[in-house]
Amino acid sequence: MRILHCSDPHFDLSLRTIPLRKWFGKRAVGALNLLGGRGRYFDDADRKIQELARFREEHNVDLVLCTGDYTALGLQAEIEEAAELIAPLAQPPERFITLPGNHDIYAKDVIHSDAFMEFFGRYMHSDWPQYSVDGIWPFVRLFGDYLAVIGVNSAKPNPLPWRSDGHIPPEQLDALARILDDPRLEDRWILVMTHYAARLADGKPDTPHHGLRNADDFLRVCRRIRKGAILNGHVHRCYFTDLRPEGLSIDLYCAGSVSMEGRECFWLFDIEGDRMEARRGYYEEGEYRVTAPCRLLLADGESESPIPIQENACRLP
Ligand SMILES: [Fe+2]
Ligand SMILES: [Fe+2]
Repeated sequence: MRILHCSDPHFDLSLRTIPLRKWFGKRAVGALNLLGGRGRYFDDADRKIQELARFREEHNVDLVLCTGDYTALGLQAEIEEAAELIAPLAQPPERFITLPGNHDIYAKDVIHSDAFMEFFGRYMHSDWPQYSVDGIWPFVRLFGDYLAVIGVNSAKPNPLPWRSDGHIPPEQLDALARILDDPRLEDRWILVMTHYAARLADGKPDTPHHGLRNADDFLRVCRRIRKGAILNGHVHRCYFTDLRPEGLSIDLYCAGSVSMEGRECFWLFDIEGDRMEARRGYYEEGEYRVTAPCRLLLADGESESPIPIQENACRLP
């Protein structure tokens, strides 16, 4: 099975369309960021997603996972537009799984209207709803008898402009533990996806104002996984880390941003039997390409390889 993990498209919304009454607090800071130049890094996001949809077809990708941050300011109009722009990549919908980033639930009005659920809910449902304890969270999706994808929500509103940290509610972590203890998952590959990074490339936690506040609790629960990976976005650089805290058997992959000018990237995983190979996607001359396999994962955190693996290719700048 071939899985593409991307993140953080941050579709650009023309600032002209933002109603003046929305210019306050967190959004004002976000809008000033866009005006100050941040926005232009994502100018071509919609065209790039179309290109990625073409890549998906050409490379026979079976499943796409996107770890959030579709918008810049979290306006309902942006979420609605983002759902349209992602559609080419999200076909068929049962082969696309996503969850929100902090930018998609920026402010309280969007949370109250549940706009993200309204427009992206079709990509976030559970095959085991009996384990959902916090709305739909955590959700579990099963593929064949060899893969489970689990989504936990670490994004939360951050009314203070200087904060963009995340947190997984403890009841979700308890439910995640129960899911991972379910004997029906025993022989499956398990991919746990969430927006925030539990660790950076150097194996250290992100800063308190940008990171996942209860990353250690999350990683402690993930010790139950024998073969699989943790997938996240939020940090706009692609990386993986095998510098794991003690007891954790799996690597962490950050898909950076699929659309950020000069840093476009994603991960492509091939799962076959007891092996999972990772390749890194990049953007060059107007199209997405992938490196040679640069990481091989086996059960119990083993990564010895009978084939040449160009690990350096996983660590492109
Ligand atoms: Fe982001
Ligand atoms: Fe984010």
